[in-house]
Amino acid sequence: MRALSSLLLLAAIPLALAVKPEDFKTCSQAAFCRRGKALADRAGQNPDWKSPYSVDPSSLAISSDKAAFTAAVKSSLYPDIKFGLDVRVHHDGVVRVRMDEVDGKGKRYDETASWALLSEPQVSKDIQWTVGKKEVKATYGPKTDKVDVEITFDPLVVTLSRNGRSEVVLNGLGLLHMEHFRTKEEPKPAVEAVEGGEDAQTPMEVPEVHNPRSWFEGEEEDGYWEETWKSWTDSKPKGPQMLSIDISFPNHGHVYGIPQHATRLSLPTTSGQDFFYNEPYRLWNSDVFEYHADSTMSLYGSIPVMYAHSKESTVGVFNAIASDTFIDVAHPEPGSSYTHWISESGILDVFLLPGPKPADIFKQYTGLTGTQALPPQWSIAYHQCRWNYVSSDDVRSVQTRFDEEDMPVDVFWLDIEYAEEHKYFIWDKKNFPDPVDMVNDVSAVERKMVVIVDPHLKRVHSYPVYKEAQDLDVLAKVKDGQSEYEGWCWSGSSAWVDFFNPASWEWWKGLFKTVQSEPDKFAWIESTTDVHIWNDMNEPAIFNGPEISMPRDNIHYGGWEHRDLHNLNGMLFHNQTSQAVRARTDPPMRPFVLTRSFFAGSQRFGAMWTGDNLGTWEHMAVGMKMVLSLNIAGFAFSGSDVGGFFGNPEPEMLVRWYHVGAFTPFFRAHAHIDTKRREPYLLDEPYKSIVRDILRLRYAMLPIWYTAFHESSVNGMPVVRPHFVVFPEDEAGFAIDDQFFVGGSGLLVKPVTEKGATEAQVYLPEDQVYYDYFSGQTYRGSAKGKNVTVPAPLDKVPLLIRGGSILPTRERPRRSSPLMRRDPFTLTVALDKAGGARGELYLDDGESYAHEGGALVWREFTAARRGKATHVASADLAAAKPEAAVDGAALALYDKDNAFAAEVRAVRVEKLVVLGLEKKPGSVKLAGSELDWEFVPGVASGASKEGVASQLVVKNPVASITGDWEIVIQ
Ligand SMILES: *[C@@H]1O[C@H](CO)[C@@H](O)[C@H](O)[C@H]1NC(C)=O
Ligand SMILES: *[C@@H]1O[C@H](CO)[C@@H](O)[C@H](O)[C@H]1NC(C)=O
Repeated sequence: MRALSSLLLLAAIPLALAVKPEDFKTCSQAAFCRRGKALADRAGQNPDWKSPYSVDPSSLAISSDKAAFTAAVKSSLYPDIKFGLDVRVHHDGVVRVRMDEVDGKGKRYDETASWALLSEPQVSKDIQWTVGKKEVKATYGPKTDKVDVEITFDPLVVTLSRNGRSEVVLNGLGLLHMEHFRTKEEPKPAVEAVEGGEDAQTPMEVPEVHNPRSWFEGEEEDGYWEETWKSWTDSKPKGPQMLSIDISFPNHGHVYGIPQHATRLSLPTTSGQDFFYNEPYRLWNSDVFEYHADSTMSLYGSIPVMYAHSKESTVGVFNAIASDTFIDVAHPEPGSSYTHWISESGILDVFLLPGPKPADIFKQYTGLTGTQALPPQWSIAYHQCRWNYVSSDDVRSVQTRFDEEDMPVDVFWLDIEYAEEHKYFIWDKKNFPDPVDMVNDVSAVERKMVVIVDPHLKRVHSYPVYKEAQDLDVLAKVKDGQSEYEGWCWSGSSAWVDFFNPASWEWWKGLFKTVQSEPDKFAWIESTTDVHIWNDMNEPAIFNGPEISMPRDNIHYGGWEHRDLHNLNGMLFHNQTSQAVRARTDPPMRPFVLTRSFFAGSQRFGAMWTGDNLGTWEHMAVGMKMVLSLNIAGFAFSGSDVGGFFGNPEPEMLVRWYHVGAFTPFFRAHAHIDTKRREPYLLDEPYKSIVRDILRLRYAMLPIWYTAFHESSVNGMPVVRPHFVVFPEDEAGFAIDDQFFVGGSGLLVKPVTEKGATEAQVYLPEDQVYYDYFSGQTYRGSAKGKNVTVPAPLDKVPLLIRGGSILPTRERPRRSSPLMRRDPFTLTVALDKAGGARGELYLDDGESYAHEGGALVWREFTAARRGKATHVASADLAAAKPEAAVDGAALALYDKDNAFAAEVRAVRVEKLVVLGLEKKPGSVKLAGSELDWEFVPGVASGASKEGVASQLVVKNPVASITGDWEIVIQ
């Protein structure tokens, strides 16, 4: 979090809160972006435009394993400059296109992918190459579904097609430009010699030379060697290194992705006719204080993955670049999309994701950058945070109040004020005299604490963390590459660890050890393994730096400039903290580390939240859209501050926001130091009871959420899924981002984000029955898509169960989620129009890595009509699909009697509810014995058969959730 100084805030009258856009650059304020935009403008005005880049056919080489192709590329503008192209096809059909300057006067940053990628991808052994006079082509895939990648030589264009249809085109518009390294031209001696003399201006002595490259590069050297913005001057010793590339999707009308921006899921246009925004989307991780709820401005994190979608297919690109990047989006005509990416530095390293379905895309993208780490189960329950719980007694009393009000909560958080002078790890002993006792009081009911550790280190030698970092020489350096960089943050004069330096890694891990193992080194002995971590301000945020961050010419490990790798910075810090928390115990336990700044791959290290939002309806609504965008971009464990960080939400807004939070993967309430306390127990009735019920609803549904997280951790499917993911052929759903599905459970939710609403319109995309979760009211969709109106009073979130789903829940209220570990289950079977249903349940110990060795339970529930009977059954899914049980491992040794399964064998199904049976059954039997059941007939009305579903309730039907069983309803 970041704020004006408290002084200013105390004086502030409640004026409209808003970002200071002047703190951040627009495209026209960044020289490289101006150059990139100008290139596109010139191309747009020149009907004869042709890319100067071409492949030299004589240099073509296909690797011996036939997976890769390399060639020399040259630019007709600079015949002496050499570029190298490398195109390879991975085993899963992903195509990697790389281009860099070869033997130049400098070296471009080429390490982004090595940080973002989980591992070096395997190449395919099954590619057929065809070399022609004008192009080379790689073909792969089954006969009926052929993908080919064609590289034309002059100009250089890369096209990925499926069955002859163009899906992704690189440089189709000729905007590829990799500014090569050049020598700075010294000022003309003639000019210098006649200092101040008017003669220097005479055209005779400085002749106007026509620049033959100006049609492409422009007349002027705009900001090549230095750039001043506000009070900051960015020295550019390497000169211009801009990288421009156009990426088109000629047959796709929607593009998604490139989080994080406060905007819709289907990205509005930024250029072309009738553009929606007049600024490109920007990726430059920034601490944007009080950000706009509808903008292309850069926010705290960047994931440069973009998907393009149509009824026919879904494709994508992952552009592995970590420098400042602006992206224009346009639809040249309906059903086609064009994007232009302008980056300050770095090599061209683009991965083409061939799809063709959303599920394939997520698998391909997370195959590259890793899936969401399976979180500790407690961390998907409810988190209570505030800047700040001011003392250990404050924490204790907040806990007491939750318990007195019977409100479940798993985690209490401490923001920066726990730390003496904002020296993280060092408790402020005046207010936190007994930190270990405090944590133990919280963990006595199996709750946890999360404590903030920011990356700025107070520059005082009495602070052991700073001292040790300095001794190790792992602090970030200014542009001379020698002197320690000093900036201003919460801790006053501060320094930053350079996590690109591997020498910092083991040391950082050591800081989190809760036992002193090395005598002279800092270890956090005033902590316990029930303390997990929050990494904030890791863009990094620096109050007195350009755009509230680090100067671009600062030097990192390896001699790289900050500009090259800025967007990776937050991820590296998050990674090291995550490794550190994991390493505290042996065997390791799953860490929980929340980050504000992130990049492609950050999902491997924990959770994120959308930063410092405002307590407004607009922020509540856009937060959900941002979480959907993050979910499809691999970062499933995401959420927004419930209630809004700034402001004092009225009770109605707070209640609606709890509904949003309860249906968000990461569910945390948080508030700024200057807001009124707003813990849910402080609400008046009826609001307090409504929020209690919302919290209990989230806890009841934890098995559904955990099952969705498990799936995400294995195959990259989003935990919350927008319509286009679930119904990829339903065009009416492609832009829908205000209602979504929870994992594969069949739950469809549309949280209310409008003041005074009493009902909501829910879009049903198919001819199927949907059941109101609370009332059993049925709604029938239509094959053409249909809107239905559902009641949405304040105490009710519009929540439907898609016919054909089986939901496992745990309905007994507890104080914290680990206390539910042995609680019985309720299974709700919502029959589809054909009388069938299906559902899943994944369980493990929720905190260790024992599941990787097969200590897990993964069940499949089915309902099917056979003759006149309906059979409801449970079967072992882990045994049937061992390869899908754990990310990256085929569980060949999976044993259904594993240690964890044995532990939960006594957990029973206490209730089975079947919705939508056509008539009262004559018997309900398990293994031939009649069960204890009740039937409430439904109420059908009208031809659509909408009404209230019939309900069969079976009490205590089966003794074990882990057993195979079959119930026959006849
Ligand atoms: C994460 O940290 C490990 C070492 O602890 C290192 O090997 C790996 O490269 C790091 N990855 C990222 C993205 O920082
Ligand atoms: C459903 O409602 C939305 C928003 O009011 C509208 O744009 C859409 O066309 C409607 N869809 C159908 C199938 O009626």
